[in-house]
Amino acid sequence: MEKLMIAGGYPLKGTVRISGAKNSAVALIPATILADSPVTIEGLPDISDVQILKGLLEEIGGSVDFAENDMTVDPSSMISMPLPNGKVKKLRASYYLMGAMLGRFKKAVIGLPGGCHLGPRPIDQHIKGFEALGASVTNEQGAIYLRADELKGARIYLDVVSVGATINIMLAAVRAKGKTIIENAAKEPEIIDVATLLTNMGAKIKGAGTDVIRIEGVDQLHGCRHTIIPDRIEAGTYLILGAAAGEGILIDNVIPQHLESLIAKLREMGVNIEAGDDQIFVSPAERMKAVDIKTLVYPGFPTDLQQPFTSLLTGAEGTSMVTDTIYGARFKHIDELRRMNANIKVEGRSAIINGPIRLQGAKVKASDLRAGAALVIAGLKAEGITEVTGLEHIDRGYSHLVEKLNGLGATIWRENLTKEEMEQMKNA
Ligand code: EPU
Repeated sequence: MEKLMIAGGYPLKGTVRISGAKNSAVALIPATILADSPVTIEGLPDISDVQILKGLLEEIGGSVDFAENDMTVDPSSMISMPLPNGKVKKLRASYYLMGAMLGRFKKAVIGLPGGCHLGPRPIDQHIKGFEALGASVTNEQGAIYLRADELKGARIYLDVVSVGATINIMLAAVRAKGKTIIENAAKEPEIIDVATLLTNMGAKIKGAGTDVIRIEGVDQLHGCRHTIIPDRIEAGTYLILGAAAGEGILIDNVIPQHLESLIAKLREMGVNIEAGDDQIFVSPAERMKAVDIKTLVYPGFPTDLQQPFTSLLTGAEGTSMVTDTIYGARFKHIDELRRMNANIKVEGRSAIINGPIRLQGAKVKASDLRAGAALVIAGLKAEGITEVTGLEHIDRGYSHLVEKLNGLGATIWRENLTKEEMEQMKNA
């Protein structure tokens, strides 16, 4: 096991290229199950979630070729193999195997998903959708059993706006008989990306990106080529980093419209931002003003950037409040930032940050993916050395993080954990 070592205080400048979107990738890869001939996805990020999904497709008989960020999946020999344990437990998005396998085979057995611990993360809306389409869904010893004689289109109103449920219902419905309408659907760009792939495979989908999605089921889907969208959360992380510790960073391969809420907040703080067609230039404010943020569903401020943004706010003048309305317990990074000298307290769903504070390097632990990003940003602007454990979480979602940061002038490297640190991790 490794940890991340960061020598803080080096100003970052230059260009960083954004990889394909993790939260698209983890749905696009399972979506290939629905085709009857090879599907190629171009521009996938080099992250462990993608590798795990590749392994899962191979377990069910898929032939997968993955080289230089492009993956070709031949789904023709896949079977509905039960996946109650093992790799499915390693990532949240393994729930997309439910929708995709149900859509193709009308049955699936999938272990309850793992992923980041952000408080309760139910999948009741996914199940509500599958049942509305005619499937029986049972939970047997920690695995979800889905069975249907046939899937029939239905009108489904989501009680909670959910990215995962919207995509999962789309996956199950594209090969159902008749029309499905998903109301109160999520509108994230990743949903449009998945709908675009499915449409290229022959599906009939209208309205992806709005809160009503209409799907006309088809009997068969075929192979195609698809290029993934850039990762707005990775791009947002580098934007925040550019504001926190940059001397002028150009973010390349980004869709600025996907980041409007973040850009507006950064400008409110006094950060300089110039947005082009597929690039954004960011340089820090002379004096950074405190602001309040509240996470909301897209196009509101993304919960996935709340943690990195908190690290930035430690350097702002005044009191800021961060409220997470999506995951009220997504605050495990706060104790770690406090170890680095931050002045933050948590009250209910909000964190209250007083600044500006000069952060100090410390030994800290990433409890989840975006907490990891928050600690890396804090470490890069802190005085002295910061050691971040829990690197496996960061590797789930940030492609070539160390290489990209060193390319911007950071001093950051990976080191093996010592025996004592391994012991401490086991006992924690
Ligand atoms: N929810 C329910 N019931 C459901 C589904 C969701 O109550 O059946 C609740 C959740 O507990 C949460 C809210 O609805 O409070 C939104 O959850 P959503 O389903 O939208 O989240 P998700 O699909 O599980 C995706 C991303 C997350 C991101 C959220 C919100 C993937 C693989 N994950 O999760 O990304 O935080 O949407 O935008 O796409 C990350 O990248 O670090 C990450 C955690």
